[in-house]
Amino acid sequence: MGIRFIKIAGVYFVLAVILGLVMGIIQNFAFTSVHAHLNLLGWVSMALFGLIYSVYKRAGETTLAKAHFWLHNIGLPIMQGTLFVELLTGNTSLTIGIIIGSLIVVLGVLLFVLNLFLSLKEV
Ligand code: HEM
Ligand code: HEM
Repeated sequence: MGIRFIKIAGVYFVLAVILGLVMGIIQNFAFTSVHAHLNLLGWVSMALFGLIYSVYKRAGETTLAKAHFWLHNIGLPIMQGTLFVELLTGNTSLTIGIIIGSLIVVLGVLLFVLNLFLSLKEV
């Protein structure tokens, strides 16, 4: 799980800094929240998940880690993709998509932390 998380984190980093750069150039900050969360849930959190699963290999090999991987990688694009389209079109009926995506990410985070408590042992 570690390497996969780190590679995907890199992809989010590229997307997030390009969005930040475009926002700065055109002086339009409507998408600040998308930029912030692509960076923080995409780049920073996923890089941390990847590093933690690489250092604590046992934690990275569990079913909880696999479930966490898929929940984060399904929930985050739903959450941020829907937010992006809602901000672009002003269609507030899309908010339900942001909520569903966020709940999936939060469920993944709960499994991640549960996994840490179950798998990590003092060295
Ligand atoms: C070349 C890289 C980057 C560029 C060009 C960039 C650009 C921007 C811009 C234009 C804003 C909006 C500022 C405003 O609303 O006044 C912003 C906000 C923000 N950026 Fe970036 N950014 C970059 C990298 C990052 C990285 C690496 C992170 C996090 C790891 C990050 C986190 C944030 C956050 C959290 C905000 C919102 C701050 C707030 O709410 O006031 N940015 N960025
Ligand atoms: C499922 C997880 C998360 C949800 C549902 C969530 C939700 C939100 C919401 C609703 C806002 C206010 C947005 C606005 O005012 O436009 C916000 C802002 C912010 N969040 Fe999160 N957040 C999550 C995870 C995180 C994480 C993991 C970090 C940091 C590591 C973070 C950092 C921030 C920052 C810096 C801001 C202010 C920047 C901005 O969007 O203007 N969030 N978040």
